[in-house]
Amino acid sequence: MPSDSLQASGSFLVVALSNIFGGVVASIHGVLMIIVVLVWDFGIVIFNLSTPNHASTRVVPQGYAGANGLWPKYDPPVEGNSRCSCPALNAMANHGILPHDGRNITFRELNTAVRTTYNFAPSFCYFVPNHMAGILDRNYWSDRFDLADLDVHNGVEHDASLTREDPFFQNDQSTVSVPLVEKLLKSGTGPNGDLTPADFSRLLSERRAESRARNPQYSQALQHKLLGSFNSAAMLTCFGGKIKDLRPFLLEERIPDNWQPQITSRMGLTLAAVNGVLARVELGVEDVGAKREKLKAA
Ligand code: HEM
Repeated sequence: MPSDSLQASGSFLVVALSNIFGGVVASIHGVLMIIVVLVWDFGIVIFNLSTPNHASTRVVPQGYAGANGLWPKYDPPVEGNSRCSCPALNAMANHGILPHDGRNITFRELNTAVRTTYNFAPSFCYFVPNHMAGILDRNYWSDRFDLADLDVHNGVEHDASLTREDPFFQNDQSTVSVPLVEKLLKSGTGPNGDLTPADFSRLLSERRAESRARNPQYSQALQHKLLGSFNSAAMLTCFGGKIKDLRPFLLEERIPDNWQPQITSRMGLTLAAVNGVLARVELGVEDVGAKREKLKAA
């Protein structure tokens, strides 16, 4: 073999081996990270069970935006501001809890802001922004993002959402679909017309069937179904499914005056607790379109 091709195949081998090694290290690191977060989350579950809850009027810690129900002024976005598909993050930017322009946010800043504003547990507030950083191929510890960056399709953002048209119909995922939200707000069968887990299961069944029928690029992997149910679980836990609070939150992306998170556990909503609600919602979803496609294929 001539020496040039020997050198070329040698360097190909080095690149291939280092890629394989890098991939293996990254997978081990990923699995270890998940194990550490789950153990941490379990510790918080035990802590929450063995400590008294916050008083319902004093969930946000003193010294943080929203303590005693006093939220910073609501200031809707203006031209040039960055917003995304998540009402919870947009609302924080609209109140200046995250930078109002929605730009150059650190993942660590997002962690703290979600924890103190909505009382989600530190394990959740590390895991989700860290997962998001991975999707964007950025470093959780040192990189920054604009809110609109989070809308990468089929990352966390997905088809058949309850508050946004699919990206096939609406490229700008910060745009609230008023008809979809109005439908959601009229769907509660609980006391005062508030939303229950069964209501979210029904809404998601209808929305997935409708999206599958209308959107020629419709896709819904299992992880996206679970993310859809997770968002419903967030509305059920953090907002108690209450229409009077969900209306300004979803339509104006505004935190209501005097509002406090309905999650009162001492260290906040754990991944374990939110997954319990998520499972209840998702198990009640009837994916009629998927069943029909399976029957056709059989
Ligand atoms: C921790 C950081 C968070 C990130 C990175 C994030 C990201 C996202 C993304 C990308 C979407 C779009 C999903 C879709 O296509 O339907 C979304 C939707 C949503 N998120 Fe968040 N989110 C976060 C925290 C939260 C929290 C704390 C809450 C509740 C208090 C929340 C409530 C919602 C709701 C209600 C939706 C709308 C779901 C729909 O339209 O069906 N999120 N989020």
